[in-house]
Amino acid sequence: MNKDIKNIKDKNEEETWSQDFPFHKQNATLVGRREFAKMLALVSGGLALGSGLVAAKANFFPKEKVTGEHFVCNKKDIPVGGGRSFIIQGSDIPYLLIHLEDGSFKAYEQKCTHLSCSVYYKKGTGQIVCPCHNGYFNASDGSVMAGPPPRKLPQLQVIVKGDKLFVTAPSIESV
Ligand code: FES
Repeated sequence: MNKDIKNIKDKNEEETWSQDFPFHKQNATLVGRREFAKMLALVSGGLALGSGLVAAKANFFPKEKVTGEHFVCNKKDIPVGGGRSFIIQGSDIPYLLIHLEDGSFKAYEQKCTHLSCSVYYKKGTGQIVCPCHNGYFNASDGSVMAGPPPRKLPQLQVIVKGDKLFVTAPSIESV
């Protein structure tokens, strides 16, 4: 009799154990509806919070404006069709100075207006390219030519003084 009670107890313990730690792969990977809904709610909440923080940062901490003229490099440092990244002292925004095939120099923020990937000038095409999601900007004015970017690239005005290249905030006419 005692033996029968022990067997029933052992069997019950085994069933509990196998429910907690299922050894059949199918049972181990099953996710209940409630758990799935919880996970969805957590992920959605995280995304909403992240988007809110980005929007709040853009609203409450607007980008600092470029003031004054800033030396970037000498003309000979950028061959025709070439580009050069630079940062203005006191700012952490990356910019791109390019030497177009028509001889003009242009400067833009190097961050794509879609999701901030780094853009580059594609030599001989007149296009600034974002490799992340195939975004294309017109290198002459920064406008969007194709892809998901929602806005043109913010531009700086390039000032040529002799052999030296400077940038400054864009004049009102060129904005
Ligand atoms: S980040 Fe540039 S196209 Fe998406």
